[in-house]
Formats: sequence, C-alpha cells, structure tokens
Amino acid sequence: MKNIIMLGAPGAGKGTQSALIAEEYHIPHISTGDILRKNIKEGTELGKLAKSYIDAGALVPDDVVIGIVADRLKEDDALNGYVLDGFPRTIAQAEALDKVAKIDIAVNIVVGFDVIVERLAGRRVCVCGATYHTSKLNGSTTCAKCGKELFFRDDDKPETVRARLETYEKQTAPLIGYYEKKGILVNVDATGTIEQDFEKIKKVLND
Ligand code: AP5
Ligand code: MG
Repeated sequence: MKNIIMLGAPGAGKGTQSALIAEEYHIPHISTGDILRKNIKEGTELGKLAKSYIDAGALVPDDVVIGIVADRLKEDDALNGYVLDGFPRTIAQAEALDKVAKIDIAVNIVVGFDVIVERLAGRRVCVCGATYHTSKLNGSTTCAKCGKELFFRDDDKPETVRARLETYEKQTAPLIGYYEKKGILVNVDATGTIEQDFEKIKKVLND
C-alpha cells in the first residue's frame, strides 16, 4: 500500500477520512494530534510541553514532532504503507519527512470556511480516538465503539479555532504548493457526506 499524507484545514475531515483509509487498506493511521493529546492526558513531559501550544492554537515545535514521527515510522506496522494525519504541517517538517520516507500521494481535503466552523462546533470525540458529529449522534453522549462518555475538544472553542485557522493559513497551506511541485498532490472536494467523500478518496488512492 501507499505512504499517504492527508492535508487540509482544521476540521476539514482529515481524522475521519484517515480512520476509514486505515481500516480499508489495513495500514496504520498516524495522527500527531492524537499522539500529542494522549501525552497530555497521561501527563508526560511531552504532554506538558504540547499543551501550551495546542491551547493557543499554535504548532508544537518542529523538532519535537519530527522526532515523534521519525520514530513512529520505524515501527514494523509502518513498513507496508501508512496514512499520516496532521503531519507534516510546516515546510521544515515536510523536508525532514523527505529524508526518512518516500511519500506516494498527498491528499488535500478541500472544504470552505463555513463547513469547517460547522464541523468543529459539532465535533465530539472519545478517548479511544473515535470522532463523531452531533448531527449523527441522535442525542447519544457515549462512544459507539467503546461506550465511554464523549467530550468536546478543548481547542474547538471559537477563539482557539480562529487561532488554529490562522496558523493553518500561514504555516501549513504552503505545503499544498510543496507537494504540487513534486507532482503528488491530489485535491479532493470534501463537502459531501463522510461516505461520499471516502468514495472519492478511494478512487484517488486506487489510481
Ligand atoms: P490536530 O489534531 O491534527 O487538529 P487539526 O489539524 O486542527 O485538525 P482536526 O483534528 O481539528 O480536524 P480534522 O481535519 O481531523 O477533522 P475531523 O475528521 O475530526 O492537531 C491539534 C493540535 O496539535 C494543533 O493545533 C497543534 O497544536 C498540534 N499539532 C498536531 N500535529 C502537529 C504537527 N505536525 N506539528 C506541530 N503541531 C502539531 O472532522 C471534524 C468534524 O467534522 C467531526 O465532528 C466529524 O465527524 C465531522 N465530519 C468530518 N467529515 C464530515 C463530512 N463529510 N460530513 C459531515 N461531517 C463531517
Ligand atoms: Mg483530526
């Protein structure tokens, strides 16, 4: 299977689609956001460092996340493809990734600002990593996969979302050009349902 990068603004649906890709193609879903949040929850040194940046809607320093991903990609399950979600997020991270991996395709999930705001406001997440939207929960407040109580991500508060979107425009959007120049960028309009968007992404990955 391929080594895949998922690009897209906060709330575009990277995590949702990465989880489906991982399941369909039996490859690991590597999300730097999930790794950092797990460390925050466990109170590790990395978690303590990451929290201040995440709460401010800023990026965790490049050297920290580059180290995490470089180590993760050495694990056995990453030998036959993987889907990277939320990494790289800066040109420096992309250049560092080029030194340790050969990326086959960068899928850029494209949605407008209004869709992003709506998706983030309605997002509910579980400690197990599952993500939901209130529009599909039918009033349920627990995870369909593990039964635990769902919660609202701290950084989904409107003021933090604003900061995350600014960070994205300044530091991450330039990656679109970076992968376009390499000839491996594919833009996917992801304003449909989760299932419709996934069908489009599968077509792109199977090409
Ligand atoms: P991270 O966790 O990566 O957050 P993000 O990029 O802001 O993206 P999100 O997870 O918010 O959105 P998503 O695109 O995954 O959308 P989702 O699928 O959940 O990073 C968090 C923080 O960690 C960063 O701000 C930074 O501080 C730090 N960090 C992480 N990586 C880093 C790095 N490499 N370098 C430095 N710092 C780093 O979908 C959103 C909602 O929409 C859900 O409710 C979902 O159910 C719903 N939804 C999805 N698709 C659809 C659809 N088609 N129709 C209807 N609803 C949908
Ligand atoms: Mg995500």
